[in-house]
Amino acid sequence: MKVLNFGSLNLDYVYQVESILIPGETQAAKNRNTFCGGKGLNQSIALAKAGIPVYHAGMIGDGGEILLETCKENGVNTEFISKIPGPCGHTVIQVDKNAQNCILLFGGANRSITREFVDSVLSSFEKGDLLLLQNEVNELDYIIDAAYEKGMRIILNPSPYDSALEACDLSKVSLFLVNEIEGFQITGEKEPEKILSRIKELYPNAGIVLTLGGDGSVYQDETGIYHQGIYKVKAVDTTAAGDTFTGYFISSIIDGMPVQEGLALAAKASAIAVSRPGATASIPLREEVLSCGL
Ligand code: RIB
Repeated sequence: MKVLNFGSLNLDYVYQVESILIPGETQAAKNRNTFCGGKGLNQSIALAKAGIPVYHAGMIGDGGEILLETCKENGVNTEFISKIPGPCGHTVIQVDKNAQNCILLFGGANRSITREFVDSVLSSFEKGDLLLLQNEVNELDYIIDAAYEKGMRIILNPSPYDSALEACDLSKVSLFLVNEIEGFQITGEKEPEKILSRIKELYPNAGIVLTLGGDGSVYQDETGIYHQGIYKVKAVDTTAAGDTFTGYFISSIIDGMPVQEGLALAAKASAIAVSRPGATASIPLREEVLSCGL
């Protein structure tokens, strides 16, 4: 079974600020760093660091070579990453003194995916292979339909949630990884229990991981419901914590770990990511997660 992640690659321009800016405010940043990120790239790197061979498909633009290098350095297969002229996907991220962030996303090359490109990537995959998706590239509905047609197993992290997801046939998804806000956007429900039961009604064959911030996470599938708390650490930057959780939890499924152990592994990995600055740079290696003492 091969694992393909079709997703974004971003340059993250991260500004350290006293407090997240309010409309009309000007504030001097204390520091600026450029990190490799993008929900797609972060999740590919989390999978690779967790020990899972992964192919990343996507597009980079001008200045995006460092994203390609980061993939290679971390063992992500880059055969399906194309470089095109024009702006690279990038973000402007503010991180405040409490490690809270806000993210302004510019899609750039991530929004230049063509159906021909999708077909050409998917021609290297087959029934039973796993496809991971987020919502930072265009043609998401087409990718889902084409992969489903081939018999690939589709895992979706519908983040950030927007109208593009309404065009997608979510009944083709085997596993959702959502936070409470995305859970509300998909189901119209706010209470975690109601989100879970509505997902079960809407997509009876799909599993779901619902992350609940400080309250941990819940996984539901046909075998039952499993809860996991968070591991408390001193937070430095929460960017990519969710992506780390996603990559590690999927790695646990691929490795055939019991659900409860997989949730704990993912929670530990994401706690370590929160304690460090940056996106891909903050994601720990599997050995570190296993020996971290959390
Ligand atoms: O999930 C974190 C990521 O979201 C950042 O790396 C940024 O690029 C945005 O896509």
